[in-house]
Amino acid sequence: MSVDVIRDGGVLVATLNRPEKKNALTSAMYRGLRDALIAASADEGVGAVLVTGAGGAFCAGNDIGDFLAENRAQGEGARTGAGGEFIRTLARFDKQLVAAVEGAAVGVGTTMCLHCDLVYAAPSARFAMPFVNLGLAPEAGSSMLAPRRFGLGVASEMLLLGEAVDAARAREIGLVNEVVAAEALKGHALAKAKALAAKPRAALMASRRLMRGDAEALYAHMEEELVVFARLLKSPEARAAFEAFAGRAKG
Ligand code: COA
Repeated sequence: MSVDVIRDGGVLVATLNRPEKKNALTSAMYRGLRDALIAASADEGVGAVLVTGAGGAFCAGNDIGDFLAENRAQGEGARTGAGGEFIRTLARFDKQLVAAVEGAAVGVGTTMCLHCDLVYAAPSARFAMPFVNLGLAPEAGSSMLAPRRFGLGVASEMLLLGEAVDAARAREIGLVNEVVAAEALKGHALAKAKALAAKPRAALMASRRLMRGDAEALYAHMEEELVVFARLLKSPEARAAFEAFAGRAKG
């Protein structure tokens, strides 16, 4: 289980590599992703980061076993852990972010795409933010970014009803730039990331900032979300949902 990071020209490619669990994120993987973003920011030779997943899935969200452990743990459990640190770094990241999505993109698997400048998806992609179904609330700025991107109605379908969208619908609502055949997906996304990385850096970064608005406002909103999320993570409803998933997995 890891995040594999390689450098390809001006692009840092981060591959979530826990395919047997659909690339559900552990603390170590959150740290790997965060470190990749920090390394990309610090390296003048890197203009863009491409995030992708191994084994036909993008990311099944936070590891539910870890959520259950946090639910059962004593104390506040303010989700200040590795997940919180990753999404805070994501909110302030100022280079280009590209995602190549195959299969499941659940929870943070979808919310991190909202921070991406370009998202490419295979026909198998399926995006979902089922926080409410799990007794939780939106995270990673998604309660601000989703309504802004999709409008309140579609954001409500995804964040309140917890409805999933397939690749075609994701393209329709503006979550995905292009649907690309699975075998061509990563190459296509890498080519786009390289195209971004090759552009005049200062102009590109300034344009991204202007398009996205104030990163600090997003950061502050994310902090508000984290307070609510941490409280709900401790709730009996959340515990029941996590236990139901764990029980289902045991078969
Ligand atoms: N945390 C821990 N394990 C997870 C996981 C997660 N978020 N998502 C998937 N897995 C595990 C499954 O338990 C299963 O493990 P097992 O083989 O040991 O039983 C394995 O990954 C494969 O998952 P499976 O459910 O069999 O694959 P699928 O293709 O039928 O469904 C998903 C894939 C992603 C739709 C489904 O696994 C799922 O809904 N996962 C939970 C997503 C979620 O709610 N995440 C939190 C969001 S806040």
